[in-house]
Amino acid sequence: MSQVFYRSPIRSYPTISHAQGVFLWDTAGKEYLDGSSGALVVNVGHGRDDIAAVMADQARRVAFAHTTRFTSMAQEQLAQNLAERLGSGDYYTYFVSGGSEATETAIKMARQYHLEQGHPERTKILSRWASYHGNTLGALAVSGHIARRRPYDALLPKGFAHIGVPRAENAQCLSALKTGLCACLQEVEAVIQQEGPHTIAALFMEVVGGSALSAFVPHTGYLPGLQTLCRQYGILFVVDEVMTGVGRSGDWFAFQQESLAPDLVTMAKGLASGYAPLGAVSATQSVWETFRSGSGNFQHGFTYGGNPLGAAVGQRVLEIIEEEHLLENVRQQGVRLHRHMKTLQQKFPIIRAVRGRGLMQGIVLKSDPMLAPGSIATRLGNIAFDQGLIIYPGSGGSTSPVGDHLLIAPPFIISEAELDDLQSRLEASFALLAL
Ligand SMILES: Cc1ncc(COP(=O)(O)O)c(C=O)c1O
Repeated sequence: MSQVFYRSPIRSYPTISHAQGVFLWDTAGKEYLDGSSGALVVNVGHGRDDIAAVMADQARRVAFAHTTRFTSMAQEQLAQNLAERLGSGDYYTYFVSGGSEATETAIKMARQYHLEQGHPERTKILSRWASYHGNTLGALAVSGHIARRRPYDALLPKGFAHIGVPRAENAQCLSALKTGLCACLQEVEAVIQQEGPHTIAALFMEVVGGSALSAFVPHTGYLPGLQTLCRQYGILFVVDEVMTGVGRSGDWFAFQQESLAPDLVTMAKGLASGYAPLGAVSATQSVWETFRSGSGNFQHGFTYGGNPLGAAVGQRVLEIIEEEHLLENVRQQGVRLHRHMKTLQQKFPIIRAVRGRGLMQGIVLKSDPMLAPGSIATRLGNIAFDQGLIIYPGSGGSTSPVGDHLLIAPPFIISEAELDDLQSRLEASFALLAL
């Protein structure tokens, strides 16, 4: 009998033994191909001696020093390197231990920014339905995922409003954007007006949809349009790059593919590639300057935030991505993976759409209205697991029109042969689902 309080206390889980590259093995000797990098985490691959060496070295020197008293070389170096990769905003980075902490931090940073600016009335946060920004209560209130929110609805803080999902292939939107706002952006502006523009602190957005909207990419012009609306109404524009950040889209950050200039960028997951818990919020110089020249104190903090061990791993991960030219591999293998998905779509009518960026590809399934949302994706995920393939099933949430879907997102180091192996395991899983 185990004393572990599992995510699902009615399930039994295989025990992980070890992992290497894109493969994991359990203690019974079964092999799994990691087709989702865990949960889009292990970007540079499993079992790396170079990262283990960095961890051992950092732990021997100093693993922890509280950030109310110390900074560390590791934290300084990582912030510097992120600033270089984030581009023109001259970003300053606040380190935390994961994606939900990053969202909470960004909420509070946005709120305090407006206080520092003399705008106490700006309290509300806007975000999108069919989104996911984390599981702590603030992050869950930002998240537009009904199923995840429902048990905790009564506890969710007030002051969070949601906009709709843009209609990605709306030709009218594309032509409307040439002269002004498309219908989707007009709807956003209507929500802003309804809430009261002067009451809104920030708008949060996943540049590429994640677990609630598998690799959904809004139509060209939509995200820049959102940013323009934010600027117009004095709202901070926050992009959530917890899944997409640090290379997953084929660029360092997905917002760069849309030429955006966000005020705050959240990241986690692949930042330390699963070797240490690490997340971050990067703020533009102008946001940072508001704190520096204002109260001089961000009224927030977590014990493990900015710890040298996590930062040292993050720094090594950035170096690996560069040394091994992994952004190029993400782009190349991403094209191949997308082609594979298209082939699958021709073979299996249950696949409604395939989409994505880089090594973050989504498969949208035709939902069965008789079944609970997510149940087909979950079944397929379980079949694939039996076939030795790990994928990431999801759904838009109970009342969302967006149904079951999967994310396929292998580590950046995946080779062509391994990608073909992934494809055959996935195809076998779809064939079994059809039985
Ligand atoms: C886009 C996005 N933001 C935030 C989070 C929350 O991150 P964490 O699970 O590390 O708290 C997730 C997790 O899946 C995510 O996908």
